[in-house]
Amino acid sequence: MNTSIATTIILTAATLLIPCVQAEPTLKEAFKNDFLIGAALNASQFCQSNAAETALIKAQFNSISPENVLKWNSIHPSPGKYDFSLADRYVEFGASNGMFIIGHNLVWHEQTPAWVFQDKHGQPVCRKVLLQRLRDHIFTVVGRYKGRIKGWDVVNEALDENGGLRPSLWLKIIGPDFIEKAFQFAHEADPQAELYYNDYALENPAKRTGAVTLIHKLKSKGVFLTGVGVQGHYGLTWPTNCDLDATLDAFTNLGVKVMITELDVDVLPFAWDQGNADITRNFALQMKLNPYPDGLPEAMQQKLASRYADLFRVFLKHRDAISRVTLWGVADQDSWLNYCPVNGRTSYPLLFDRQYQPKPAFGAVIKTAQ
Ligand code: GLA
Repeated sequence: MNTSIATTIILTAATLLIPCVQAEPTLKEAFKNDFLIGAALNASQFCQSNAAETALIKAQFNSISPENVLKWNSIHPSPGKYDFSLADRYVEFGASNGMFIIGHNLVWHEQTPAWVFQDKHGQPVCRKVLLQRLRDHIFTVVGRYKGRIKGWDVVNEALDENGGLRPSLWLKIIGPDFIEKAFQFAHEADPQAELYYNDYALENPAKRTGAVTLIHKLKSKGVFLTGVGVQGHYGLTWPTNCDLDATLDAFTNLGVKVMITELDVDVLPFAWDQGNADITRNFALQMKLNPYPDGLPEAMQQKLASRYADLFRVFLKHRDAISRVTLWGVADQDSWLNYCPVNGRTSYPLLFDRQYQPKPAFGAVIKTAQ
């Protein structure tokens, strides 16, 4: 037999034996010319406790955010005591995989221990003391990861739903300039790091206007601020594409970068429509709020897929301004929406299912890039 006939036979046999798998591109490949694709990681994920999950994270994402380990109560639980053990591993994971590492967050009204605002008798501290504590915290945490954490959510959720400043202890004790002070300290601690203001529901016109006013004020005072993080905790119908579009336009017009920082799409019923019922005791209500304990029906998968595709189409329209889209979690079982605002629900807000398999929403998102 001559060699060319032999080669043909071998190639034909190989083609018949190997199933024709058309591998889908990964998220980071599909959007490589548009924006970074990130995921928020919990400790078990960046400590690589599950091989399938680690492989998925490395394959799909080129940026990471820490779900909790850099929040004040985790890293600085008591006066003068820092615990960097998990945060160090988070940064190490990102650095060894060449990922764009985000720090989240430096100033927030949640997940901040009570001692931060109190003296040793439990009385509120004065402005000077709180500013000093804020400065020490930011210099210590940002300073430790200088050059490795590339972008920080400096201030998280300082606005209320009407667009005014939220009446937090930061505002009450320091005054409205706690925001610019935080940015100033962070910039001094790492002049190369990108610095962001991050918030939710910025698609609602009143809050959007408040945010635009705030960012404009900070920029005109010369505060170093690189971008605005639009959290992106969405539902199937909220926000409208139109409101999202208007919000992305509004921030782009301010000349700052925009990023979607905590994307997920909740398919479960809104818990707060149910008034003040005690959901822990009312079984019928619990069932109503948790309609898919055994899996998401196909029709809902398709709804979720088309919602995700719509969102990514809007993001792509703004690809010149958007530098990153980060999902708040990797696979459905890790999402905060399984325990918040109602504990023990089965939620489906992400692109990968509980077996780490891509959902129809994953394919729909990838298609928007093609
Ligand atoms: C907010 C915070 C995040 C996280 C989510 C829900 O959006 O910024 O750190 O706590 O809520 O988990």
